[in-house]
Amino acid sequence: MTSPQSIKTLKINDIHVSGVEGQTILNVAREHDIEIPTLCNLEGLSPSGSCRLCMVEIKGSPRLLPACVTPIEEGMEISTDSARLLKYRRMIIELLFAERNHICAVCVTNGHCDLQNMAQRLGVDHIRFTYRYPNLPVDASHAQFAVDHNRCILCGRCVRVCDEIEGAHTRDMCCRGIETLIITDLGKPWGTSDTCTSCGKCVNVCPTGALAEKGKSVAEMAKRRAFLPYLVMRREVRK
Ligand code: FES
Repeated sequence: MTSPQSIKTLKINDIHVSGVEGQTILNVAREHDIEIPTLCNLEGLSPSGSCRLCMVEIKGSPRLLPACVTPIEEGMEISTDSARLLKYRRMIIELLFAERNHICAVCVTNGHCDLQNMAQRLGVDHIRFTYRYPNLPVDASHAQFAVDHNRCILCGRCVRVCDEIEGAHTRDMCCRGIETLIITDLGKPWGTSDTCTSCGKCVNVCPTGALAEKGKSVAEMAKRRAFLPYLVMRREVRK
């Protein structure tokens, strides 16, 4: 049973809310139907705080903090939707588009893409930054799936689902900064992996067209994610 001491009361957008000690700001906000934009976060996977889209303002803190990994504290006063936050969120989306080659018109997930949806939601209709147009590889060596690094936003969902849910840890990230890439095993072609179970979980949690099923054409790859909360719930029941 939850002890009374572990309940925290706070304000989000001037609304009085409460949560249990250890919950994140994002969890508590969602429980109270307060929407905070996210990209790297996905229900059923551990939060990683990598995309920074969920940044919020906290009274008394000079820094913006990511709601998905910041625990609630008693008396917090949080703003989730100020003009300043919208400005930075738009900038994050623009930088993601500028960093790699996201050509929606020829993408397998056109119309089903979390990055594209978020850009529309935040009103990003042009990119103010110079496109880098990196020359990144496509690995189509797997029989069923392909990875196009040009469309990867390095959210790490594929790494986490493979490790935390499938238990294979086939995927990881290598290198640093703008050189960072998602890799298979220690950098092998996907089709030669000894650890990949071909479950397709990584493909379905990927927010963009970076991971896709082979044989899908433009706009044909809608991701299926219902399995994730279901698997997590079944495991909780078995504990
Ligand atoms: Fe919080 Fe990405 S959703 S940092």
